[in-house]
Amino acid sequence: MNEQARLLVMDFGGQYKELIARTVRGLNVYSEILPGNVSAERVRELAPIGIIFTGGPKSVYRLDAPVCDPGIFSLGIPVLGICYGMHMMCHMLGGEVAAGEVSEYGRVPAQLDTGAARTSGAARTSSAARASGAALFDGLRQEVRVLMSHRDYVKKLPEGFVSTARTEACPNAAFEDTRRKLYGVQFHPEVEHTEQGREVIRNFLYNICGASADYHLDDVIERQAAMIRERAGDERILLALSGGVDSSVCAALISKAVPGQLVCIFVDHGFMRLKEPEEIAETFGTSRDLNFISVNAQERFMEKIKGVTDPERKRKIVGEEFIRVFEEEARRLEAGHRGPVKIFAQGTIYPDVIESGGLFGATIKSHHNVGGLPERLEFQEKLEPLAGLFKDEVRALGRKLGLPQALVERQPFPGPGLSIRIMGEVTREKLDILRQADYIFRQEVEKCGEPPQQYFAVFTGARSVGVMGDARTYDHVIALRAVETSDFMTCEYSPIPHEVLARASSRIVNEVKGVSRVVYDITSKPPATVEWE
Ligand code: XMP
Repeated sequence: MNEQARLLVMDFGGQYKELIARTVRGLNVYSEILPGNVSAERVRELAPIGIIFTGGPKSVYRLDAPVCDPGIFSLGIPVLGICYGMHMMCHMLGGEVAAGEVSEYGRVPAQLDTGAARTSGAARTSSAARASGAALFDGLRQEVRVLMSHRDYVKKLPEGFVSTARTEACPNAAFEDTRRKLYGVQFHPEVEHTEQGREVIRNFLYNICGASADYHLDDVIERQAAMIRERAGDERILLALSGGVDSSVCAALISKAVPGQLVCIFVDHGFMRLKEPEEIAETFGTSRDLNFISVNAQERFMEKIKGVTDPERKRKIVGEEFIRVFEEEARRLEAGHRGPVKIFAQGTIYPDVIESGGLFGATIKSHHNVGGLPERLEFQEKLEPLAGLFKDEVRALGRKLGLPQALVERQPFPGPGLSIRIMGEVTREKLDILRQADYIFRQEVEKCGEPPQQYFAVFTGARSVGVMGDARTYDHVIALRAVETSDFMTCEYSPIPHEVLARASSRIVNEVKGVSRVVYDITSKPPATVEWE
């Protein structure tokens, strides 16, 4: 994956770093995210075609404000600074950044120097266009609405720079020094709220960095398959298959690369959703290439989790027991006639890698993977063929590899499963009630168009009085939760139509024995989390 041209996104704490990197990839240029303090020497070694500095929450004048290695400005590599990235560039190169009289938040009209006024049509399309803004804002409208989110602004330009855009509150909403190939925008071109923002990034890549559109998912499949073949030789590869998008796509990719060498172990801990273990077995169990092993460990997990009410302990117990079952199965395999399994595969994806410090020398955080398997098992090699891909790319890859749509679109499901969606002690009866309620809710949501990113039912542990027929009931309260988000770091509750909620509520109370009341969770994250435990 690293042979083609790459663009570096340098992170200064901005919330949109992944969005920037994904936008770049969507424009067929491979991108990677690195911490903002990466050395100029390292950047030179990586030889990117361009660099984008992200925004960030700090003010350049704060003592702890992050800065880049100043040597980066003299590498001759084009740089685009966004928001804080622009301020930092300005401050470090001798300009002045100051706090504005007023903050500017939201969509505002901006006037751009598109080069159109001063150059002929022919010159506008040339990458060597000379009029200010001609390369970065080439082909854009002169007035666009852009997303602003700042108080600080560039008050005095550094030497060699010219201003290329302005808004009512911000005289230098963009600047450039074309000689040194340094560019800055105060607004956020990476978000949809900025009109023609994608064009700004496209122009940076193609007019300024000289990109050649050499990043395509089809090539990624071929390249990763070749890498897998080379690493695997004729060794067997073991994969813990959860049925989630990442491990499923990982399985499909490996089995395409080295048919018959993969062994997939699916541990059914008993906290899966209704019909899920059967669906997973149906999808993966029928292919001989996958050597799918399903382990029914429901009894063991139930035994371990009995009487436990603390959410963190539940997570820990499920994670540890998972490792134990997996280890046992791996040993059983090893006891077979083909000797030890040396390679362990994991469906780690790029955002997991970014969280733990980047692609270069990173260790994978374990808390959202079930248990940190490789530490306990002595595999000689770890194979992570999806570690450079974003979630939407992994889904697209899954589609290209022929996985069923339902699986590729599957919503996230926590490793500990329903055990952390039942408040208090987990029992079979509660699991049963929750499974049915959750199934109904999912059915109703899916019936009406595009579903939100995550939607599920929660067993609240509360009981409530109801009336059924002439009789008083005192039964369980089920909560429904649905969230909209792009990254799960922050979420809004989903404004699901009332008719859908009403249908789900009525069906749950009528069809699921033991439920007397259904409520809808209208809390955002933060302050709440997506899961209740
Ligand atoms: P929270 O509840 O932290 O959830 O707002 C954010 C996203 O992470 C998922 N989640 C987990 N996934 N193991 C996982 O594999 C876990 O222990 C876990 N806890 C939360 C959650 O479903 C949501 O998508």
